[in-house]
Order: sequence, then C-alpha cells, then structure tokens
Amino acid sequence: MSINLTSSNSLSRLENVLIIGSGGRENSLAWAIQKNELVKKVYIIPGNAGSERINKCERLKIDINNFDYLVERIDSLKIDLIVIGPEIPLANGLADFLRKKHFKVFGPGKDGAKLEYSKSWAKEFMQDANIPTANFWKVNSADEAKKIINSSSIPLVVKADGLASGKGVFIPDSKDECVRAAESIFHGKFGDSGNVVVLEEKIEGPEVSVFALCDGERYILLPTAQDHKRLNEKDKGPNTGGMGAYSPAPLLTKDYLETIVQEIIEPTIDELNKKNIDYKGVIYFGLMITKSGPKVIEYNCRFGDPECQTIMSLMDQNFVFLLEKCAMGNLIGDEKIAASENVSGCVIATSKGYPHEYKTGFPIDLGKFDTNNCQIFDSGTSFNKNGELITNGGRVLSIVCQDKNFDLAFEKIYKNLKEINFEGIYFRNDIGHQVRKNFCKEN
Ligand code: AMP
Ligand code: GLY
Repeated sequence: MSINLTSSNSLSRLENVLIIGSGGRENSLAWAIQKNELVKKVYIIPGNAGSERINKCERLKIDINNFDYLVERIDSLKIDLIVIGPEIPLANGLADFLRKKHFKVFGPGKDGAKLEYSKSWAKEFMQDANIPTANFWKVNSADEAKKIINSSSIPLVVKADGLASGKGVFIPDSKDECVRAAESIFHGKFGDSGNVVVLEEKIEGPEVSVFALCDGERYILLPTAQDHKRLNEKDKGPNTGGMGAYSPAPLLTKDYLETIVQEIIEPTIDELNKKNIDYKGVIYFGLMITKSGPKVIEYNCRFGDPECQTIMSLMDQNFVFLLEKCAMGNLIGDEKIAASENVSGCVIATSKGYPHEYKTGFPIDLGKFDTNNCQIFDSGTSFNKNGELITNGGRVLSIVCQDKNFDLAFEKIYKNLKEINFEGIYFRNDIGHQVRKNFCKEN
C-alpha cells in the first residue's frame, strides 16, 4: 500500500530550510523544496548566481568550515531543516556537529560518509555484508601494487582510496599503465587521498544510479537514473562529473530493481545498522549491470549530479517532507514520492576545456528559454561587476525538461540549448541515446 504524503505528519515547523552546496544539484534541491507551501524561505550556502532565480531562495555568505559561526547564524535564522549537498562537508563531520546542536539535518555523519570517502572501507563493508561488487586488493605501497598487478591474470582498475573530485579512478589498458597509475597516486597526485590504493577487477556493463533516502532504519527509493560520465559523444573521452542524465532508467525493470533491493540495498542498510551507523541521508548506489548480475561500483553519501537535477524535477511538493522524515528518523518506508508520470532528461552545458583546464567569466545569454516543464539549474555561474550572468565553472548549466517520453523531453532540451550561448559552450548531442527512439545512432 502506498500512502500519499499530505503533511509532514509532525508538529514541527518547516518554514526555513537551509541547503549547503553550490552546484546544479543544490539548485535543483532548492527548487523542489520551495514547491511546498509551508516552506517560506530556502537559504543556500553559498549557492551560485542561478540560486537567485529560484523562488523563495536567498544566498548566504557564510564559511561552512567555521562551525561555531555557522551555528550562530543558523540559530538566528530559525532554520527548521538543513540539507547538506556535497561529500566534503559530510566527510568533515558537519552533519554530526549540527545534529549535536539539535538541528534537523539531512545528510549522514562522518561514519556514514565513509562509504564514499574511503573506497577500501566501502569494499570491506560490502565484503562483510556479502554485497556483490568487483574483487579487490587494498594496497599500501607502489611496490605492493606492482606485485599484484604483474601477477594478475585479469584486467584491473586503479583507485585512490579517498576523495579526489571524481578524478581518482584509472581504467588502464595495460599492466604498465596500471603500474604508472598506482605510482602516480602513491607519489601524491591526490595528496592524502592516495595513501591507500584499491586495485579492482575490471567489470563490464551499463551503469545505473539508484538513490535511497534513509532515516537510519527505513528507506525509500527515488526514481532510478542513468548518467553519462564521458565527455564525448558515443560515451568516449575522459570521465567527467557527468555530462547529462535521464530518469527513470528503463533498463531497471521492476523485477531487476527487486533483485537490487534484495541483494544490495537492504544488505547495505542492515550492515550500516550492524555497524551502529545511524545513516540519515541519501545513499547513492553506483551500479554496473554485469552478465552475472548487478554489482556495486561505488557508494556515494550524497545525491548524484546531474542525476539529482533530473529526479528533482519529477518530485511533487511533498518531497521536502521526505527529507524531514529522514532527518527525524520517522520514515514509514512506504511513502509515495513521485507525483509526475513524466520522464525527465538533463544535458549539461560545459566550458571549453572541461574536465581539464578551462576559462571562466564569459557572459551567458539564456535566450528565449521555453519554461514549460523545463528548468535551468545553474551548475557553475556567478555575476560580473555589471551584474551580468557569467560562467564560473567547468560545468556551467544543467538544462532539464520533462515530458511523456524521452524523445519529447530531449527534443525540448536541445531546442532550449539552441537559445543558450556563452563563449566556448560545449555539450553532448547524444545524451539519453539509449532511451530516445528517434535518436539516429549515426549522428
Ligand atoms: P567511480 O568514481 O568509482 O564512480 O568510478 C568512475 C567510473 O569508473 C565508473 O563510473 C565506471 O565507469 C568506472 N569504474 C569504476 N570501477 C570500475 C570497475 N571495477 N570496472 C570497470 N569500470 C569501473
Ligand atoms: N554523476 C556522478 C556523481 O555525482 O558522482
């Protein structure tokens, strides 16, 4: 049975919500949260120029690393719910600190964030819980890595253990390349994040992203999504933070999702409980659908970007109650979440040069953007001294549209993209190729 959420089922206030983060992900969260009429104000620290176009949204300039000052300001603003977007403040224990001060926080503590900030810990966690994942070796030196690589009969991938802004994974084509990757990590390419290296069996298959909102004990699943990590069309070129996404992912049929729930999601939540980790936030399961079934490629302790932008635009006004319930630990686990029957797509417009070096500061012309079931969530923008919207990141804009099917949704996205201009704008034309029936593969 699904229940419809019409209120937070609590006597708490939900007038002022604070979001921490500065990307398209956080803007889409703000947009979904402000839909609820109980919410009067959505503060965002630090947000970006696009946050200012979102209804009820106000940016705050506060250094989130100054925990004490942050608490003072949050107290004075009477914040009812705090949503922490990115992994770094979560890994630094911001959620723990704020919870100790009795704020309602959506976001795991440092112990739960370890699923993302230590790949070796996450692999051992999966091993303990018998969760399907690629075989792995945790190594502490370049010599140790070299021995394993040279004696391995299977291709390996090389990963820095800690956070590396999405750049810490190498998929080498030869043993030599594999050794060089491990050496570069141990020689400090990612600082302390590379004190340990994980060597992993290379596995194959399409990738999907599954998001579970957890209240510490129970969970609910958001619509699934697929991301396009590679820079270039036909899924070629270097890995990026994500060039586009779509939701839901038709690849995950109901039956398949049931297998994922039984083999991966529930064992993960049970293992967190077993380890006394009170996980109040989202678990992002990065999965690969291999010939021998679904396997976990990675866990993240946050929403994916750009998956979040596609999913948020499918949420109804009650979405904020789900976040609140997770923060309060009173999820039922059977809540109805998505109001929209539509599907959603997102294409990211990037700066020339991304994910390597790129220039910023170019004026952005948003043109005549069709806003009917379409949103622009700024990923990296700011204002220049004349108040013009300018580029301020590698990923600049997330163009998101919803419609009855993916062909219609992506048609609107690409029509809107024709309107948008800034110097060096780059985007892929084939986002969602797997689900666009009208997409010509020879494009
Ligand atoms: P991650 O940062 O862990 O998401 O890894 C980045 C990308 O590397 C993933 O999205 C996969 O495409 C690829 N990858 C990671 N681990 C493996 C693996 N064991 N086998 C094959 N590809 C992998
Ligand atoms: N879209 C991939 C990520 O957020 O890590």
